[in-house]
Amino acid sequence: VFIPHNIIVTGGCGFIGSNFVHHVHDHHPDVHITVLDALTYAGNLDNIRPLLGDRVEFVHGNIRDAELLDRLVPGHDAIVHYAAESHNDNSIANPEPFLKTNVEGTYRLLEAARKYDVRYHHISTDEVYGDLALDDPRRFTEDTPYHPSSPYSSTKASSDLLVRAWHRTFGVKATISNCSNNYGPYQHVEKFIPRQITNILDGLRPKLYGNGLNVRDWIHTDDHSSAVWDILTRGRIGETYLIGADGERNNLAVLRDILTVMGKSPDDFDWVRDRPGHDRRYAIDATKLRTELGWRPKHTDFQKGLEQTIAWYTDNRDWWEPAKAATEAKYKQQGQ
Ligand code: NAD
Ligand code: DAU
Repeated sequence: VFIPHNIIVTGGCGFIGSNFVHHVHDHHPDVHITVLDALTYAGNLDNIRPLLGDRVEFVHGNIRDAELLDRLVPGHDAIVHYAAESHNDNSIANPEPFLKTNVEGTYRLLEAARKYDVRYHHISTDEVYGDLALDDPRRFTEDTPYHPSSPYSSTKASSDLLVRAWHRTFGVKATISNCSNNYGPYQHVEKFIPRQITNILDGLRPKLYGNGLNVRDWIHTDDHSSAVWDILTRGRIGETYLIGADGERNNLAVLRDILTVMGKSPDDFDWVRDRPGHDRRYAIDATKLRTELGWRPKHTDFQKGLEQTIAWYTDNRDWWEPAKAATEAKYKQQGQ
């Protein structure tokens, strides 16, 4: 068992990273967290502001900045790497930042982990495995071959391969986790669930891509956090763990649930242009994580989690409103 005392969390002002910072702050009082975040359009210091103090420190900077890493990494015992360009539609409109942050940024962090002999945990996605047919009985496992579809997922796949090489060649003490679609508080309004909730709150019609039958495997972001903690502390070095909570649903069903909970007709939405290369289905088999580390999700009732998420966006208009108009303007330009 590895007991970390002083960790760096990259991307700790984004959606999943900030939920992880809250999780560690609330459940592991002996751990000091340094959040390293460039505060791109997706980062918001407000996500962690109430935690800042002795135990949670914020450093504004870029993971590609090797000199900054030379100053920051010594004295820490682990890097948990969440920072990324994370949105598929953006990667289709402009892939370049994805190459820089996801590939070069990961390379810089791996070099720092190697130089200062620091434990490294890499946050990745199920999208590296490509997609499954809707009727395929199989789900992704740690042995599924890499087959990414989008500029985003191909840069995440590239970063995973760098991690594997840096472990094997240089002995970096690395683990990787590939998680399915997260939902919960602090998710940017560009993403599917928050976009539809905030559209309804703003009097706009929700937008569904293609035929709406694409399947995503939903997990509450707090369950992702507990899994990452288990892998960081008890995972075997050099191993990959898939994280998922058996939450497969198609987009149409999720959207109709949102509309119903929010008191709208289940048909009160627009069909819009499909995403180019749109992956049909993701599905995770998390047997390894469950059997080897005994991890279990807590938020197993998706309907309840969705209702809590709708309540969070309803109560936190100040948090999302500043980003909403620009996000919708960008989608409108893309016919979405
Ligand atoms: P996000 O877009 O909400 O947040 C990304 C954060 O990284 C932001 O705070 C941003 O400011 C920061 N950042 C971006 N580029 C940076 C750079 N060059 N240097 C420093 N900081 C930088 O992303 P998210 O949805 O929270 O995803 C976090 C991680 O989890 C990503 O690695 C993503 O690939 C992975 N992931 C996401 C999901 C999902 O459902 N959203 C599922 C599985 C894995
Ligand atoms: O699977 C994990 C991945 O999940 C992460 O690696 C990514 O960082 C994260 O963004 C997410 O990728 P998706 O592309 O699955 O998420 P997104 O929220 O963009 O879209 C979810 C589904 O909803 C997808 O099938 C596209 C569809 N969609 C999306 C939007 C924004 C719509 O139908 N309408 C929309 O307005």
